[in-house]
Amino acid sequence: MPRGLSVYAGNAHPEFANDVAEALGIPLGRADVFKFPNGEIFCQIKENAREHDVFVVQTMAGPTVSEQVMELLIMLDAFKRASAGRITAVMPRFAYGRSDKKDQPRVPITARLVADLVGTAGADRFLTMDLHQGQIQGFFSIPGDELTAFLTLVEYFQADYANRDDAVVVVPDLGFAKRGRNFAERLRLPMAFIEKRRIGNTGESQIVDIIGDIGYRRAIIIDDEIDTGMTVMNTIDALQARGVKDIVVACVHAVLSGDAAARLTASGIRELVATDTVPLPQHKRNEKVRILSVAPLFAETIRRIHEGESVGALFTSPTVQLPLRVR
Ligand code: R5P
Repeated sequence: MPRGLSVYAGNAHPEFANDVAEALGIPLGRADVFKFPNGEIFCQIKENAREHDVFVVQTMAGPTVSEQVMELLIMLDAFKRASAGRITAVMPRFAYGRSDKKDQPRVPITARLVADLVGTAGADRFLTMDLHQGQIQGFFSIPGDELTAFLTLVEYFQADYANRDDAVVVVPDLGFAKRGRNFAERLRLPMAFIEKRRIGNTGESQIVDIIGDIGYRRAIIIDDEIDTGMTVMNTIDALQARGVKDIVVACVHAVLSGDAAARLTASGIRELVATDTVPLPQHKRNEKVRILSVAPLFAETIRRIHEGESVGALFTSPTVQLPLRVR
């Protein structure tokens, strides 16, 4: 059993790592992680980590995603060489999840490559949230835990939406169908699916079919992530064209590339609800954007991993539900 619990942060989302450490009641570990003028990344752990139970928090999203991956790998290597007792790579959002199969000739499976690199660099375990597909867990050859923001999102919508007969849950991507159904069932709402088709590798997509009835006054559109916003914008257009007046968009990972946040919130939706797995700069926030913090859930999971307690209970038992934090 490794000794003391330590949490360290890469530069991708220090606010999230701070919130995790605060919820655990410990200070963030001290480490220098920076780039030399030549672009190479350097890392030095500024305190003894020998035999410690080390958690390195580094999300992966946005224009510098590949640099964030590299920074994580370098930190893991530093802890391995510092003789940490056990090292867990905490990746609130795991990048390259959409590259999880060879669905065109001569393309890589980058999700597998990144999973391999995390293990090779020195991680003994991984901890993440809502992978693009659950099967990506199997790309890692180290043990790990995949959390879900599903209960956090259900709790947010519970009071205003549960059991309503004028509302529908709309899943804009069939890859999210199972988790979307669980969400709708918890709120006891009907659901509809959008079948979309991607157009080449441009990031663009179009709706091919709508499965289910969307003729309701209110809708919650829910997906694992919003990147360019194209998938959700197409869904909003389809709903509005059918007279749906009150639309809320929810997701776990608010990647919101480019001006996606501005376009979405200007589209006539009432709210955009997401978690804080990805940093959302001030210029992408406005009064329609609600951020639910999952840092306490990560902190509780880290505590359980450290203490050797069940993490599974966090998915099933209402007694371990954490208070909802909305920003
Ligand atoms: C499927 O690919 C995912 O669940 C999301 O639908 C996708 O990442 C959203 O991408 P975008 O916002 O660029 O349409």
